[in-house]
Amino acid sequence: MKEFDRESLKEFNGKDGKPVYIAHQGRVIDVTASKFWKTGQHMKRHPSGTDLTTEIEAAPHGPEVLDRYPQVGVLKKKEESTRPMPQWLAGLLDRFPLLRRHPHPMVVHFPIVFSFSAVLFTFLYLITGYTPFETTALHCLGGGILFAPVAILTGYFTWWLNYLAKPMRAVAVKIRFSVLLLGFSILAFVYRVLNPEILVSLSGGSVLYLLLVFSLIPIVAVIGWFGATLTFPVEKN
Ligand code: HEM
Ligand code: HEM
Repeated sequence: MKEFDRESLKEFNGKDGKPVYIAHQGRVIDVTASKFWKTGQHMKRHPSGTDLTTEIEAAPHGPEVLDRYPQVGVLKKKEESTRPMPQWLAGLLDRFPLLRRHPHPMVVHFPIVFSFSAVLFTFLYLITGYTPFETTALHCLGGGILFAPVAILTGYFTWWLNYLAKPMRAVAVKIRFSVLLLGFSILAFVYRVLNPEILVSLSGGSVLYLLLVFSLIPIVAVIGWFGATLTFPVEKN
């Protein structure tokens, strides 16, 4: 049976009338005849010409659908470019594979929601004058300060482990904006704690404080957007 490596498999991506091949657990399958693969991409998401062994785990069907189509070859085993790491960490990741990729996407929600909430409650205070909203905004700023470092650490970890710490524009932007996020949140928090009346009587200081707080939304949006371009690359057309 024909042997493919990852490079030669890429050719069979359905473009310009080429056949549509996909790989699953070492088998290369020809799905050219399927109406679900005729564009070379399945469900606007899964590219042909690649190994989709992991991706099918998230599908609403099992791998038995692959048996509807003929196997045309086998896929050579990947020469893994694995990241060298201490024995204890390799053991831990083998025992709990979930720790490989999940921690960052799991914890990022916390600084995102705390930052958005700090802005929302500040805004609510400004339009209603209801003091508890302002106190809640301060607490949300505090929550963001507690969780941003957790997101930053897990972000570095996932980049180091899964992207082999390769220099990437998206990560470079995220690192800079994460410093801004943490810096601005701490500045706003300390400023507000030292000046509890900062929003009661508006002054130049209040404007600075509001700018710091409101800037958290664009900062968090940039960090999240560049993160998501890595997990869900944007379709070109
Ligand atoms: C989240 C991802 C996925 C979704 C939402 C999805 C959805 C579907 C749906 C709705 C069908 C048609 C229903 C059926 O025939 O059972 C289908 C068929 C199929 N899917 Fe997927 N799928 C996904 C991922 C994958 C992956 C990763 C592979 C390849 C490893 C794959 C291979 C196939 C094949 C070969 C068929 C049969 C097509 C045919 O009978 O013509 N799917 N998929
Ligand atoms: C400076 C440290 C950071 C680094 C190096 C970093 C790196 C990364 C990497 C490599 C990914 C892709 C993950 C994957 O493919 O599984 C990612 C995703 C993501 N990151 Fe970060 N990140 C950092 C900080 C943050 C912070 C502070 C936030 C939130 C405020 C954040 C929000 C996100 C989001 C929303 C995603 C997309 C997750 C998904 O689609 O499920 N990141 N980040």
